[in-house]
Amino acid sequence: MSDSGNFDFESPDPAQAAAGVPTQPPAGMPNDLPAGMPATAEPAMAPPAAPAAPTAGPPSLGGPAPLGSTVDFAAYCRNAFKIYGEGDTEVRALNDVTVGFETGKFTSIMGPSGSGKSTLMQCMAGLDSLSAGQTYVGSVELGSLKDKELTMLRRSQIGFIFQAFNLIPTLSAQENITLPLDLAGATPDQQWLDQVIQTVGLADRMGHRPNELSGGQQQRVAVARALASRPDIIFGDEPTGNLDSKTGAEILEFMQRAVREFHQTIVMVTHDPVSASYSDRVLFLADGAIVDEMINPTADSVFDKMRHLGD
Ligand SMILES: Nc1ncnc2c1ncn2[C@@H]1O[C@H](COP(=O)(O)OP(=O)(O)OP(=O)(O)O)[C@@H](O)[C@H]1O
Ligand SMILES: [Mg+2]
Repeated sequence: MSDSGNFDFESPDPAQAAAGVPTQPPAGMPNDLPAGMPATAEPAMAPPAAPAAPTAGPPSLGGPAPLGSTVDFAAYCRNAFKIYGEGDTEVRALNDVTVGFETGKFTSIMGPSGSGKSTLMQCMAGLDSLSAGQTYVGSVELGSLKDKELTMLRRSQIGFIFQAFNLIPTLSAQENITLPLDLAGATPDQQWLDQVIQTVGLADRMGHRPNELSGGQQQRVAVARALASRPDIIFGDEPTGNLDSKTGAEILEFMQRAVREFHQTIVMVTHDPVSASYSDRVLFLADGAIVDEMINPTADSVFDKMRHLGD
């Protein structure tokens, strides 16, 4: 996991490209993913202890799609394990997670503290490596990439919004927002950029450095930066956690619009049922596994589900 993930996108773990997972994505991925999982998909590298049996439950439970459908996934993982420590101190932060994030959809991930939400995001965003299993962005399996290739993929295809905003203190808000584009050598779509900056309400603060901005304004710069390059997928770890409810709602509405109008794919960790209600789907994690999901959530239905999780 890397604090620098938002701006330099350097690999936090040089060993991760050598995670021992196959180098070729399965033929025809991702459309035939459901057919291939979970029965035929063994973890490529056995975790220290015997892996749990494939997740039980209906085919769509946290999984990519019902059998036979042709769903386009911006990112997905298969039989993902992340194991810390061993023996008595072993923690399975991810315990056989298979899930897909459909292109052009807004997904929330919820669950108790320590349930593996951040770990899932970090691994799927290529900022951390799995202990076993595979994770894909588009059809590219991240474990098959060399460090440099992974860095390039993160820069060009993935946007991040983390709670520690990871803004560069010496750069202005404007420069922070365009930094990933600059690093990737890409030309900004000025019209889109103006729209993003306008929407996050920062047009008059663009020349300011992060330490001249409030926490909420810094968070908005981080959101604008993730959206600026229109990446294939944006991962946000409690992206509105530090904002007052009005600013938070504006940002969530904007994220929702980016999904509905511009086909952006967004995955967001949140503890807040109201925030989750902006998304198309909520996944519920407990003890490193997906235990439930909800389509077209409302704040009330999410709240209700959370109260009864683990009953
Ligand atoms: N570097 C690490 N070393 C050992 N254990 C870790 C490490 N990182 C995370 N964990 C453990 O993995 C589990 C999942 O952590 P994770 O950060 O993914 O939880 P989370 O769902 O994001 O929680 P929160 O809501 O508190 O942010 C926890 O039990 C945590 O203690
Ligand atoms: Mg977390």
